[in-house]
Amino acid sequence: MLRVVVMVSGGGTNLQAILDAMKDGKITNAEISGVISNKKDAYALTRAEGAGIPAVCVSPKDYAQREDFNEALLAAVDSFAPDLVVLAGFLVILPELLVKNYKNRMINIHPALLPSFGGKGYYGLRVHEEVLARGCKVTGATVHFVDEGCDSGPILLQKAVEVKHSDTPEVLQRRVMEEAEWQILPRAIDLISNGKVVFEDGRVFAKDM
Ligand code: GRF
Repeated sequence: MLRVVVMVSGGGTNLQAILDAMKDGKITNAEISGVISNKKDAYALTRAEGAGIPAVCVSPKDYAQREDFNEALLAAVDSFAPDLVVLAGFLVILPELLVKNYKNRMINIHPALLPSFGGKGYYGLRVHEEVLARGCKVTGATVHFVDEGCDSGPILLQKAVEVKHSDTPEVLQRRVMEEAEWQILPRAIDLISNGKVVFEDGRVFAKDM
């Protein structure tokens, strides 16, 4: 059974997609052992509690030094003894030690087709604003393993979504979430929990793809 820790900062719709997929049997051999947020008021924490999952908040605001926060965050993750860490809208710069300790065992969902519209400053609505400003006809979402860079680790899954001329950033964000993020993040976890992921020359592939 793959033990999964999900790290969140916002509404938790990606967490909800994982919970629903586990309930519906779309994710097998995995369980969420804990949810961690940096924001006390993140609705994702409410979702976790509603599902009976241990949920903790580790907020940078509670620590005088960043180093102390980093240590507390690493300890919180380790306390759930995860086999896989899932970043689902976690908007905190990760401590290097956390990334190092969970190399090839940490994934992130990004709301664009990396490497486009990724990297420092590209998160939330801004991603979709830039996609629209560029006049892109297609966007989507990416699940990738986390490395020491920003949105730069090996790509496991991507799913494309149509951009419509009439789209606002909010409408496009919702379509990307519904049609891409909430589909490929659960699928990525199921691939990992069932040993269907292969690392090859710094890239990663799903078996039978
Ligand atoms: C999603 O748009 C995701 O792509 C990004 O942060 C947002 C998280 O939303 N990484 P939610 O908290 O899962 O609803």
